[in-house]
Amino acid sequence: MAMTADVTRRRFMGSAAAALAAIGLKPDSKVWAQPGRAPTFPMSRDDEYDSLIKLASNENPWGPSEAMMEAMNSAWKYSNRYGYPDGNVREVIAEHHGVRPENILLHAGSAETLRVAGLTFLGHDEKVVGVEPTFTTVYQAASGIDADVVALPLNDDATQNIDEMIRVTRRNYRDVGMVYLCNPNNPTGITVSSHDVQKLLDGIPEDIPVLIDEAYHHFIMDPSYATAVPYVKEGRKVLVTRTFSKIYGMAGMRLGYGIAPRDMISDMRRYTTGTVNALAKWGGVAALADTETEHWVRDETIRVREETREALIEMGFKVLPSDTNFFMVHTGRMASEVRGEFRRRNIAVGRDFPPMLDYLRVSISTEEDMDKFMEAWQEIFPDGMTADAGTRGN
Ligand SMILES: Cc1ncc(COP(=O)(O)O)c(C=O)c1O
Repeated sequence: MAMTADVTRRRFMGSAAAALAAIGLKPDSKVWAQPGRAPTFPMSRDDEYDSLIKLASNENPWGPSEAMMEAMNSAWKYSNRYGYPDGNVREVIAEHHGVRPENILLHAGSAETLRVAGLTFLGHDEKVVGVEPTFTTVYQAASGIDADVVALPLNDDATQNIDEMIRVTRRNYRDVGMVYLCNPNNPTGITVSSHDVQKLLDGIPEDIPVLIDEAYHHFIMDPSYATAVPYVKEGRKVLVTRTFSKIYGMAGMRLGYGIAPRDMISDMRRYTTGTVNALAKWGGVAALADTETEHWVRDETIRVREETREALIEMGFKVLPSDTNFFMVHTGRMASEVRGEFRRRNIAVGRDFPPMLDYLRVSISTEEDMDKFMEAWQEIFPDGMTADAGTRGN
């Protein structure tokens, strides 16, 4: 698949970074010190925000389930307390994964776990090896402490180049503090197979921590995928991160966690300050028990995602496959322009993900919201994919 002329530049950028890394020079990590991932919407009134169709941040449009709301509402009484009953949230999460509570570290969202991992494992000027584009919180943490980011280009089909990740990590062995693998990757939505995860772990020195970000785990249908939690149980230097922000609808409540061998958790605990609130803890416990809602959200998200993808493909657009609650579509022109067009129609879509600047990331919402998205799409692209853009997107 030819992924636009950008591929050449990406290849170049990635191999330049890799080459710098290979000879021990620092790629410019400040490039990652950009504002955070979640777009903010400057609004004069709250109701403007409320009426916006939000397809920009991979949220769950339905929010927490009834059972979760009930659990959270009953936790208000702890608002003024320390050391209150917390539903044994850590124990419940540990049991959910078949690990011990000492293997779990809770944070106010998994972005905090990623940041804490960066501070812990890159704190001595080490490099983090990963791909670009991906979810950049770890890279931003690295920038903040002057550690290096070695960001490798994606393959032509937008998958992650595991062989290159292994090669670059091995060549920089002494300097690499951590490898970051987002699975499935954000923003592409594409999963790394269990075979490739194993290949990565077996292909690099076993003392290098590998962070496997499974934020979208619950949406994956690809049978070649498997969670990396069993590697933690084996005692390998693997940190798996999960979040309650996506399938469980708790993005605004903030709850995420890491699963890792005990010594990694102890090291990370030094940078952890107890940011999780009482409501989030009780909501999280109720979420794990409510598998019926979890499955409904998954199935409905996938149904609406595939309907939307198919409609766009039928109109001649190239859409990447997805195992998440978002997808990427090739716009054939700068996605920032298209985003502006959507914004004028009161629809927020994903930000830029360099170097894939002519791809738009679209989060899945309710069927009603996605119908409005498609209406707007037809207005913005009245002729479907133009011949020129179509060739580039094949
Ligand atoms: C891949 C990935 N990891 C982590 C996060 C962080 O989510 P949160 O901090 O809400 O748990 C996100 C959020 O979009 C994400 O896409």
